[in-house]
Amino acid sequence: MLSWEKSSSVASMKRERAWVEIDLAALADNVRQLKRLLLPATELMTVVKADAYGHGAVTIAQTALQCGATWLGVATIPEGIELREAGITAPILLLGATNTPEQIRAIARWQLQPTLGTPKQALVCAETLNQSTHRSPFPVHLKLDTGMSRLGAPWQQSAEFVQLVQRLPQLQIASLYSHLATADDPNEAVMRQQQARFNRAIAQIRSAGIPLPRLHLANSAATLADADLHYDLVRVGLATYGLHPAPHLQSKINLKPVLQVKARVTQVKTLQPGTGVSYGYQFIADRQMPLAVVGIGYADGVPRNLSNRIDVLIRGQRVRQVGSITMDQLMLDVTNLPDLQEGEIVTLLGQDGKEQISTEDWATLLNTISWEILCSFKHRLPRLTVNQPIPPQISQVKESVLPHLEPETVARSNSLDS
Ligand SMILES: Cc1ncc(COP(=O)(O)O)c(C=O)c1O
Repeated sequence: MLSWEKSSSVASMKRERAWVEIDLAALADNVRQLKRLLLPATELMTVVKADAYGHGAVTIAQTALQCGATWLGVATIPEGIELREAGITAPILLLGATNTPEQIRAIARWQLQPTLGTPKQALVCAETLNQSTHRSPFPVHLKLDTGMSRLGAPWQQSAEFVQLVQRLPQLQIASLYSHLATADDPNEAVMRQQQARFNRAIAQIRSAGIPLPRLHLANSAATLADADLHYDLVRVGLATYGLHPAPHLQSKINLKPVLQVKARVTQVKTLQPGTGVSYGYQFIADRQMPLAVVGIGYADGVPRNLSNRIDVLIRGQRVRQVGSITMDQLMLDVTNLPDLQEGEIVTLLGQDGKEQISTEDWATLLNTISWEILCSFKHRLPRLTVNQPIPPQISQVKESVLPHLEPETVARSNSLDS
């Protein structure tokens, strides 16, 4: 009997075909390191939009909040509701636009906090609250466009915009913010221009006699680049997940990737010379060749454009992928592993022994960014947590006596499969 058939537990069923592993200890360490970059008064918002960049929003949010984050950022109302339904009470900023009364009612009902980027959005918001039973101060975050050309009021009109919102008694300005377009570029010119515009907008507001709300500008790259960009809060996504936004920022912090993608070998066979592999015969064996089939494909989020271009890891060794990646399966040339068995684990992204395949590797091959790769893994892949972080104050206590840990979440990387 194969090792993966021995146990019928839910944990092993989830590891039956293919899955995403989320290393909570790495996440906790990344968040704590990020927090250490900030002045004590500067708050950390963990950006958990898009299901926490594919990592699973609720688990990531809970862990980040335990490790020092005090705010969460989401893009959409349903993303915020998911966190509230999981019992998360931390303030949640909606980074996307809010335009309609229905949206405002949902935001009020779930105690989310909207971004307003136009006078019209502010007026609709106030009017909707006026007509509702909502009576407590309704926190809103005003967004300025300082050069991203996405959401936000023109930075030159910051004082008028803030004044208009200030005159609406239903609304309470919780923050003023902007977003950087090129913070990951080693050439800082555009970022510094945006920062200067943000500072001029702040000066305009101050000279209009308006008390300054909480201010924020920095994403991951800006948080790593310069403490001068931190203001009162930083909004960090990518770095939380252990990836560096740009090579030149690598030395600033020692982040560890949180996500790994793994799958099982489902069949092993021997090809005769001249045998074609997969749709379109994009690969033809030039010799007798052992071939492994793996249960993961582009419907799981492994881009088909990586066909014939990637290695994967098995038993700590690099193995090349051959033939077109199909919807649910892909094939490997396992010449180096002649005794490979069905059920063995294949690491597509992550570490196995001394070898590592990174999200950046795939992003480079596909001429895209690691943000997009992280977000591409589909929900068909269960997200499994490993390495439950040990709270610092009880780090000396052995894992076996920690009260609240589920067996599934204390697994150390691949150890369940041995
Ligand atoms: C407004 C805003 N702030 C912060 C972030 C976090 O960016 P990053 O993942 O680069 O840290 C994002 C993500 O796109 C965003 O849209």
